[in-house]
Amino acid sequence: ALDSALTSIRTSLALPTTSLNLLVQRFVTLMDQGLAEKGADMAMIPAFVTGVPDGTETGTYLALDLGGTNLRVCEVKLKGDGTFDITQEKYKVSDALKQGPVSDLMEYIAQSVDVFLTDYGSSSDQDVLNMGFTFSFPVEQTAIAKGTLIKWTKGFNCPDAPGKDVVQLLQTALDRKHIKVKVNALVNDTVGALLAHSYHSGGAFIGAIYGTGTNGAYVANVEEVKKLHFGEKGSGADANRPKKMLINTEWGGFDDDAQSRPSGTGLTITPWDNYVDRTSIRPRHHAFEKMISGMYLGEVARAIMVSLIDRLLLFSGWSSPAMDTQYGFDTALISAIQGDKTEASDAKSATRKALVGTMGIKEEHVSDLDVETVRTVCDLVALRAARLSAVPIAATIQHTKQAQEVGSEGKIKVGVDGSVVEYLPGFQDRMKAALVEMLGEKIGEKVVFGLAKDGSGVGAALCALQAVKQEREGH
Ligand code: BG6
Ligand code: GLC
Repeated sequence: ALDSALTSIRTSLALPTTSLNLLVQRFVTLMDQGLAEKGADMAMIPAFVTGVPDGTETGTYLALDLGGTNLRVCEVKLKGDGTFDITQEKYKVSDALKQGPVSDLMEYIAQSVDVFLTDYGSSSDQDVLNMGFTFSFPVEQTAIAKGTLIKWTKGFNCPDAPGKDVVQLLQTALDRKHIKVKVNALVNDTVGALLAHSYHSGGAFIGAIYGTGTNGAYVANVEEVKKLHFGEKGSGADANRPKKMLINTEWGGFDDDAQSRPSGTGLTITPWDNYVDRTSIRPRHHAFEKMISGMYLGEVARAIMVSLIDRLLLFSGWSSPAMDTQYGFDTALISAIQGDKTEASDAKSATRKALVGTMGIKEEHVSDLDVETVRTVCDLVALRAARLSAVPIAATIQHTKQAQEVGSEGKIKVGVDGSVVEYLPGFQDRMKAALVEMLGEKIGEKVVFGLAKDGSGVGAALCALQAVKQEREGH
């Protein structure tokens, strides 16, 4: 019975190349839809950043980073040679702040900026310090420092925030405390990762986050962004029309319109995915993210394990309070188990440590076969996540014809950041293998991933710099 249960799990989570290719087709269609109209599920948001840095940029800026594992306040000094100095501090955001009134959250952030400036001072000689704000949620941006929250994702849910301008909310909180900081740029973490990687490596095309959530940004040709209007081409009114525009795709929302598409053309939702989704804060939103990112991967694995426990196929049917708790099986445990190369019988194995030590399953209920079953489940969940993660990259390259643009020798550079891509063993290699399946070896091999670790700090600084420039130039 265990064998047939595992076979069925394997089949449900499998993504053969043909399925990946169908997903790419659908992704390209949804990119077009999102670029043509506002309010699409996969929102394709113009970031009001019209180019990427080349490494020669200089200056000192503050950066704030909200939406990953930690709230971070940083001061970044861009040295103009692709390198930078950074002073940073991490602060915890409690669940109460994540889900209470947004003014409390903003006040806490402003207080953290205050503490940071008191503890570290600033090396800038400016009277009022410029700050880039990395806010890693879907925002309808209307200018480089203006944008209203569309909806929360991940574990945040301050009910009074959607529809409000997040820069204004933060500026008000800073002003109330008389902190001499001006929020002059609003940045998504994917845009931050793209800018940071580009600064470091002299140009880049995609920035992608595989962390608590997942999302990507890329450099689009403006004429493809149909929903942006700069006046008729050639009429003179389009003098301010830039050639390029960074787009925050919000690909976590890919296939959220599943109800209205022909069946069999999008994501395959397993019973475990449905469970994770319907018990999440916002069901039927960002379903793709729930199959890929750090906030949810452990939960998908837990759902599968619990279903096996209930069929008496795992731990002889015994569970534990942690195993019965929503989000009780952290994605970090998948990383630990994936990295565990010991024999199943080894009492000191990382898998047994996770199951007995962390999850509280009684030792006598964990057989060698159970250890192997848990390893298989974690591996299948991680493999699907890596293969799904390659879909948006392949689709973006196809949509933009980037492979032709860089020619036969050129590289397509992708800056990546986040706990999943950083800590899940084999994630990048599996993603790369799937990319080659979808794009073919010639194009797939052109794609080069680079870790833009803590990229949002540098990215926000680069965006703040661009904002000062744009202000000076009067647009
Ligand atoms: C950080 C970036 O390094 O990675 C953040 O600076 C980003 O902006 C984060 O949100 C994503 O990773 P995680 O795993 O912390 O969500
Ligand atoms: C979520 C957010 C998105 C962010 C991503 C990664 O998908 O909606 O804005 O970029 O998480 O942090």
